[in-house]
Amino acid sequence: MRTHHCNELSESHIGETVSLIGWVNSARDHGGVIFIDLRDREGLTQCVFRPEEDAVVAELSHSLREEDVVRVTGKVARRLEGAENDKMATGTVEIVASKLEIVNKADVLPFQLDKELSNEDIRMKYRYLDLRRPRMAKNIRQRSKITSAARRFLDESGFFEIETPILSNPTPEGARDFLVPSRLNPGKFYALPQAPQQYKQLMMVAGLEKYYQIARCFRDEDLRADRQPEFTQIDIEASFIGQEDIIKLVQGLLGAMFKAGLGIDIPAEFPRMTYREAMDIYGSDKPDTRFDMKITDLADVFGATEFKIFRSILDGAGVVRAINAKGFAGITTGQMNRLNEIAVQAGLPVKNLAFIKLEGGEYKSPLWKIFTEEEKANVTSKMNLEEGDIVFFAAGSRESVSTILGRVRSECAVMQELNNDPGKFNFLWVVDFPLLAHDEERGHWVAVHHPFTRPHPDDIGLLEKGDYANVRAVAYDVVLNGYELGGGSIRIHEKDLQAKMFGVLGVTPEEQQIKFAHILDAFRFGAPPHGGLALGLDRIAMLVAGEDSIREVIAFPKNNKGADLMAQSPCEIGMKELREVYVQSTYKKKAEEAPK
Ligand code: AMO
Repeated sequence: MRTHHCNELSESHIGETVSLIGWVNSARDHGGVIFIDLRDREGLTQCVFRPEEDAVVAELSHSLREEDVVRVTGKVARRLEGAENDKMATGTVEIVASKLEIVNKADVLPFQLDKELSNEDIRMKYRYLDLRRPRMAKNIRQRSKITSAARRFLDESGFFEIETPILSNPTPEGARDFLVPSRLNPGKFYALPQAPQQYKQLMMVAGLEKYYQIARCFRDEDLRADRQPEFTQIDIEASFIGQEDIIKLVQGLLGAMFKAGLGIDIPAEFPRMTYREAMDIYGSDKPDTRFDMKITDLADVFGATEFKIFRSILDGAGVVRAINAKGFAGITTGQMNRLNEIAVQAGLPVKNLAFIKLEGGEYKSPLWKIFTEEEKANVTSKMNLEEGDIVFFAAGSRESVSTILGRVRSECAVMQELNNDPGKFNFLWVVDFPLLAHDEERGHWVAVHHPFTRPHPDDIGLLEKGDYANVRAVAYDVVLNGYELGGGSIRIHEKDLQAKMFGVLGVTPEEQQIKFAHILDAFRFGAPPHGGLALGLDRIAMLVAGEDSIREVIAFPKNNKGADLMAQSPCEIGMKELREVYVQSTYKKKAEEAPK
C-alpha cells in the first residue's frame, strides 16, 4: 500500500511521486491550505493539500482528524525556506498531495497521544492507543532489538533454542502456582511453570548440552513495579561447565543486548561481591552501587561504651552500624517520618531511627550527649561526618541491622536523587549465596535459590554436620543498579545428594516419589554436571529503556491486581464450563458484587 515509510523521504526523492499510508498525527489549516503530519511506525512526513493542486482532494483534506488512517499520494517537494523542521528526519521535504484516500476514520480519542497521562487505568484500558505513543513505541522496538540480540548471541555460542511445556506440574521456585484444571483427567490440575527449571535440567540429562529459551514464566505472588504475574526469562542451561563459564557467557550476552538496545559498550567484566559482603556493606543482596553510603561497623568505636542499649547489643553478639547520607542534614520532617516508617517496616524495634547531623557547626542528635568525648571523635572520623551530613544508626542482630540500614540507604538515595543518572549502568555479580534459610513461619529449612542448587564444595562437611545456616551454594545473581537481573546456580546432578537435599528441606521420601520421581530417576542414568541461569528479560528491557516499571516494556501487562483492564481478564466462568472441568467455586459473592 506504500512506496516508502514515513521516515524515508529526503531531498534525493524530490520530484518523485510516492504513496504513504498511516495515521494523521496532526492536521493544521493555514489559510485554506491543510498540512498534516502523517505517521507510521517509522516516523513522520508532512503532507500538504493545496486547492490549486487538486481542489477536490484539498476539500476532502479539511475533514481529516487526528488518528484517521489515510493514504496520500503526491510529489516530493522541497519545503519553503524557513519551513524546514530539523527535529524531523524528513524535515526538509513535504509531499504535495494529488490523491487522498480516507481508509478509516477515527473517533475522538479518550486521551491525547502526545501528552503523558498519569491515569494508568485509562492507559491500560486503551493499551492499543497507549502503544501508539512515541515513548511506548520506542520501548517495544528496543525490547524487540535486545531480544533478537540475545537470540543471535546464544545461537552463535552454540545454544539450541528449545521450548518446554506450559501445561506442567508445580515447580518449587518460591511463589504460588497458577492452576489449570484438566478435563480429560477429572480432578487433576496442571500448574503453569514458574520457570522451566526441571525441564532444562532434564535436557542436560538428554545430552543436549546447551539450551536456551525466551521462556514465559508464571508466578502468583505480590506484584511490584518490577514483578508481573507472567513475565519472560532468557533461560539458559549448559553441561560440563562451572560458575566461571556461566559468568563469562552472561557478561557477553548482556554486552550484546546493551549494544543492540542503546549502542553502548558495557564493561566486559563485572565486579563481584559475596552475598555476605553485599549484605554487610549495602544491606541488600542486589545492591545499587551507583552511590556509596556504605554501611560501617562501629564495634571498635563503641567497644567500651557505657551507653546501655549499645552495650547490651554488643555483649549479645549483635552489631552497631551506621550510614552517612552526605549532604542530607537538611532532610525535611516529612522525609524523616518516611525514613522512620521504612525502618520500622524493615524491623526497627523502636519508632525512630537514631541519627546525628552536623548543621551550622552544631551536632544535632538525641544521642550526642550520651556519647563520651572519645566516642564522639571516633564516630566523626570513622563515619567521615562533615558539615551538612546526617548519620543514621542501627543496633541489633547482624541481619536485622543490614535490612534496616539497607532500606534506609535506598530511600535516602531516592530522596537525594543519587540514583537517576540515566547513563550509569553498574553491573555486579553477587556470589556465594547461602544454600538454605530457616523459614520461621513454616518451621523448616527452605532453599534460598531452589532445591536443585549445588552446595559449595568447601561446605559439604557443614551440610553433613547439620550446620545448615552456614552452608554456601554455588549460586550467583547478576545485579544492575539495584535490580536483580538474573540468578542461577550450578546444580546437583547426583541422585543421592539431590535426595539428601530434599530431605533437608523436609520433603519426605514418599513426597519425593510423587513430586520429583522424574528428576531423581533421570539422575540414575548418567546425568552430566550442569548449571545455568535465567535473566529477567522484562527487567533488562526496563533498564535499557530508562523506565522504572516493567509495565512500560510489556505490550499487554497486568495491573497491580493482576488484571488486564483492556481484555477484562481474569473473567468469570459459567457453571457449565466449570462443570466440564470438574471444578466448583467456593467463592461467595459479597452482596454488592452479586448481580441484581
Ligand atoms: P529466579 O527465580 O531468580 O530464577 O528468576 C530469574 C529472574 O527472573 C526475573 N523474575 C521476574 N521478573 C518479572 N516478574 C516476576 N514476577 C519475576 N520473578 C523473577 C528476575 C530474576 O532474576 N529457575 C531459576 C533460574 C536458574 O536457576 O537457572 C529462576 O527462575 O529478573
